[in-house]
Amino acid sequence: MRLMIDLATNRNDSQPWDDFDSRWYLAHNYENLRLDDREIIERVANFFAASGEQRCGIDVGSGTNLYPALAMLPSCRQITLVERSRSNVAWLMREIRQFAPSWDPFWGALVNADADRYKPVEPREALAARTEVLCGSIFELPRCEWEIGTMFFVAESITAEADEFERATQCFVRSLKPGAPFAAAFMRHSVGYQVNRLHFPAVAVDEGQVGECLDPVAYDVTVTMIPSGANPLRDGYDGMILATGYANGK
Ligand SMILES: C[S@@+](CC[C@H](N)C(=O)[O-])C[C@H]1O[C@@H](n2cnc3c(N)ncnc32)[C@H](O)[C@@H]1O
Repeated sequence: MRLMIDLATNRNDSQPWDDFDSRWYLAHNYENLRLDDREIIERVANFFAASGEQRCGIDVGSGTNLYPALAMLPSCRQITLVERSRSNVAWLMREIRQFAPSWDPFWGALVNADADRYKPVEPREALAARTEVLCGSIFELPRCEWEIGTMFFVAESITAEADEFERATQCFVRSLKPGAPFAAAFMRHSVGYQVNRLHFPAVAVDEGQVGECLDPVAYDVTVTMIPSGANPLRDGYDGMILATGYANGK
């Protein structure tokens, strides 16, 4: 009985997502542009450079992070943000209408990385006009629907169960049409994280596990370790992992 309860509390369904403190998470993670996020932004901007425009994009588990959607803006006529937590959905619905000045350095980093694609876009207008927010689960995404995608710090940070990490990653990639480019970021070796007074579980993944899990569903995958230097965001992890590649439709 005890074992069954312990297993249940580690799983995605058992976490208090609706009590996720959006403001606290935003202030802790995205008040300032960190060096590791800047490096990820530059790599993602360069990777998406060949993706053209007018695509339908998806960002899954957006939380209070707008930079994955901002990175897709030049490529997209429409972007869907899928998020399970009602508090984060409410935050996203407000924020996309007119995003706060704190996101300007993130947009600036994208412009620095690829001025030809990002500079012509008016990001506040474009985000408000092209983005919709849906309350939903990564595990229930339709297959082969979107043409470009991002998933940042989600699959490994919504459960402590390795099988759910794998399934979430693969559900994300399978939601993309064959040939669609994607960028996914993961906390490396995370033991879970605090959002104000609540603790959320994680699966401690490394570059090898990320690559293995993407292998059946993607091709041309590049997995890169992004060091967090002397100033990690929180205890209990040792860097970030960025994976880019293309959905294979399987
Ligand atoms: C660690 S946060 C990452 C947030 C954001 N993507 C970022 O880069 O900071 C994990 C997010 O996944 C969301 N989430 C949890 N379970 C989910 C599910 N089954 N489907 C979609 N999102 C989920 C949480 O509400 C939270 O916003």
